[in-house]
Order: sequence, then C-alpha cells, then structure tokens
Amino acid sequence: HELELKLEMLEKGGFDHFMMKEIYEQPRSIRDCMRGRIYPQQGRVQLGGLKEYAEKLKNIDRIIIVACGTSWHAGLVGEYLIEEYGRVPVEVEYASEFRYRNPIISEKDLVIAISQSGETADTMAALELAKDKGATIFGICNVVGASIPRITDAGVYTHAGPEIGVASTKAFTAQVTVLTLIALYIAQIKGTVSQSKLITLLTELNEIPDLIEQALKHNEEIKTIAAKFKDARNFLFLGRGSAFPVALEGALKLKEISYIHAEGYPAAEMKHGPIALIDEEMPVVFIATKHSSYEKVISNIQEVKARRGQVIAIVTEGDTEVKKMADYVIEIPQTDEAFLPLLATIPLQLLAYHIALMRGCNVDQPRNLAKSVTVE
Ligand code: G6P
Repeated sequence: HELELKLEMLEKGGFDHFMMKEIYEQPRSIRDCMRGRIYPQQGRVQLGGLKEYAEKLKNIDRIIIVACGTSWHAGLVGEYLIEEYGRVPVEVEYASEFRYRNPIISEKDLVIAISQSGETADTMAALELAKDKGATIFGICNVVGASIPRITDAGVYTHAGPEIGVASTKAFTAQVTVLTLIALYIAQIKGTVSQSKLITLLTELNEIPDLIEQALKHNEEIKTIAAKFKDARNFLFLGRGSAFPVALEGALKLKEISYIHAEGYPAAEMKHGPIALIDEEMPVVFIATKHSSYEKVISNIQEVKARRGQVIAIVTEGDTEVKKMADYVIEIPQTDEAFLPLLATIPLQLLAYHIALMRGCNVDQPRNLAKSVTVE
C-alpha cells in the first residue's frame, strides 16, 4: 500500500493532485507547444501540419470553430485573435448545436474542431457534417492519433502532454497558444500584420512561459483569497474583449470542481441582468489588466463596489488604480493584449483549485463529470 501511495505521488510530480501538477506544468507545456513553430527574430511562424493549406488560408472567407466545454472557450479566444491579426471572420459554435441546426457551410469554408481528447462525440459529429458539406476540416487536439485528428484534412497538435485532471488546465492554455500561432500564421501569409510587428509579437510570445512562471508565484496570496470566499454560494467573473472568454473559463473551472454556482459575463453586460444579484455576499472576479478596455472595466468595478459587492481583480503588476477600489488584487505580469488570455487564466485556475480543496471536493475527479464525453 505504501508503495502504491509513493507511486501515486511520483505520478503527480510531488503535487497533491494532478490538477495542481498540470497547472504548474504550463510554462513547460506552452514551450513544448511553440517549439519549432516560432522564429521570433525572423518574425516567422511555421506550422508543419498546415503547410499544404497555406494557399487555402490566404484566401479563406470564413472560419467556423466547433468545440465543447473548455475547448469552446479556447475557440472564443481564437475568434478574437484570428479576426484581429488574420482579418478573417470567425464564428465559434457549440458542436452540439451546430450539428443539429442545418448549418450553412460550403467548400469555401474552413471548419476547425478543438478537442483535448480528440474523441468528443458532438465535436466529431460536427466535423463529419462539415466534411460532408465539402468544407476543409482542421483539428486542434492534444491526444495524438485520436479519432478527430484521424478524420481531419490537417491540424496542429497542442503537445501539452497527458492531462489527467478532469478540469482542463494545461490543455486549455496550449489550445490558446495554437490558436495564437494560427492567427499569426494567417497574418504572415496574408500580410495583414507587418514584419516588424510580427517580430515584436513573437518575441513577446516566446516570453510567455517565463511570465506564467511569475504568475504562479502568487499562489500563496490566491490561497489566502480562496479561504475568504470558500463558502460563497455564487461567483461572477467579468472581463472584456479576449478576457471575456477567460472569465467564462474561470467560472467554469470554479463550478466544475467546487460546485459553487459561477457565471462568466462580458463586463459591460453586467448591467443587463447580473447586477441585480450584487450585494455584500457576492464575489465578483474582474480581469482588469492595463489593456484597451482598462478604463471601462474600472467603471464596471465602481458599479459593483457601489452595490457593496466583493471585488477580486486580476491586475497588471504595479497597478495602483484598481488597487484603490478592489477588495483583493492578484497581479500578473505586463504583456501584449494578444497574450493576456494565457496569463490571466493562471490565477483563475489556482483560485478554483484552492476553493475546491478547502470545500473538501475531489478536484481531480469532480462528481458527474467525465474527462472525455464520447456519447452525446
Ligand atoms: C468534458 C471535459 C471538459 C472538456 C470537454 C470537451 O466535458 O470534462 O474538460 O472541456 O469535455 O472535451 P474535449 O476533449 O473535446 O476538449
């Protein structure tokens, strides 16, 4: 028995749970994901899996992303990035909805499935449908040789390594990394971003693993914050722009593993409903980093404070303005807005982990959830 326990500890790399091990693996998994794919000094992205489709990508009119769960959130981040840099319209669809609503797709479309396992039944069916209608189909998967990568025309593996925790962590950030690479690759072949800007962006992207390392150093503070909110019954997560899908993912992590009801919302939508829920009992997590919507997020924070809500804000290192009004702040390093989702996700994963643990939940195997959903 003792040997079994030791073996288990070894598998978890010295961490108490797979989830924590996988959260801490992210600097490495993202490095693995980018290896051989980015050349910062030349401002060049190289995606072997998509090479034959460069011409197609150059002329594509529309991209449809299909996925479920956390992978769908990665897709939403991808939408912001691909539209911003590649200048191609992107639609992100729940695979289960897409497959049953007679979607309009043709040979001109590119459909990208995102799936950690590569086995999700709905995502697989959505892809098959798109293929039948003549679309080009790509996959972004983690498990090599799974069903989805086997039916796609092309794809990019996330190379995050095996993910055991049911709540996805390192697979999500690897999916976002791949989508970032695809966005910059499209920009490169279409010329929608200048060479010098590509050099700047890729140089910064290359630093992300180190910045995640720094973000992880706030673990103890996050644990203290978790202790204050472990008995909350509801949680709201708010962000704008590409931080909105991060808010959705933060809420999903918390509800999956702690069973606290949590909702993610675009910060500006708060006034159209969720604001009615705010009182002194309501924790609201804001992604309030120094990016394009900083000032607007600050006014959203003021609206919550005016109703005595409890504000936990993810801020850029050295921030002073948000600190004045938030009850708690968690710093992340400064980065280009393009890479904000990769950094802002980290504290939210840790917050969910600590809260779940303090509530006595099984963080690696939450009730009613499966790692891979192969039935519809
Ligand atoms: C399940 C898992 C989630 C995952 C979703 C999609 O619900 O519990 O963590 O995001 O399936 O899985 P996939 O393997 O397609 O990414």
